[in-house]
Amino acid sequence: MPQRRPSSARWLQEHRDDPYVAAAKREGYRSRAAFKLLELQTFPKEHPSPGRPGNLLIQPGMTVVDLGAAPGGWTQVTVKLVGPRGRVVAADILPFAAIAGAEIIVGDFLDEAILDQITATLGTPGLAHVILSDMAPNMSGIPCVDQARGELLAESAFQFAEQRLHPGGSLVLKVFQGTSFHDIVSHARQLFERVKLIKPRASRDRSSEQYLLGLGFHR
Ligand SMILES: C[S@@+](CC[C@H](N)C(=O)[O-])C[C@H]1O[C@@H](n2cnc3c(N)ncnc32)[C@H](O)[C@@H]1O
Repeated sequence: MPQRRPSSARWLQEHRDDPYVAAAKREGYRSRAAFKLLELQTFPKEHPSPGRPGNLLIQPGMTVVDLGAAPGGWTQVTVKLVGPRGRVVAADILPFAAIAGAEIIVGDFLDEAILDQITATLGTPGLAHVILSDMAPNMSGIPCVDQARGELLAESAFQFAEQRLHPGGSLVLKVFQGTSFHDIVSHARQLFERVKLIKPRASRDRSSEQYLLGLGFHR
């Protein structure tokens, strides 16, 4: 019988003991990642800028693009938050089951044709109030390759946000440590009124995962 590698045994144990996995199951979310977005959703309200009221990130009636959406936890959360007057365009390289209220696009975000499809789905003027990117590469196990792929996804999502956000819009971007990290953060500081780097509580302790939250987009 093949021996289970220690890393996969550890993952299974963590998965069994994980309160967010249990909560996702209980609340009908497809992934524990849903709780990361729920935490990011309240961050601007709980941490308002001095002298400025803080609003929730995603509000009823908004148009939201969700990049790297499969299996769909963030999409499920977003559909509920925007309500029947809002729109959610969710894209992933992997196919995933339909979610009522979301328009799903399957394809590689690095492919120009998929970018065009997302933009066309937004309709005129092709802008979103919030752009979310939880994209992460499928791990090859070679650290420098995985890091470079993650950085490329984050850079591409950032460029997309620069072109497709409404004035005043918001960005949530999974970022990766590497050569482009500081460039993305400093560029974000020029384009958003407020920029925060956040590691949600639902993000696993041993993961270096963090999200850039940009609020108040301007050109
Ligand atoms: C951490 S998962 C997203 C989890 C999701 N936010 C949820 O709540 O269920 C990262 C996703 O990024 C996707 N991804 C990776 N490379 C991609 C690419 N080039 N284009 C689109 N999606 C990509 C993966 O297929 C994977 O589903």
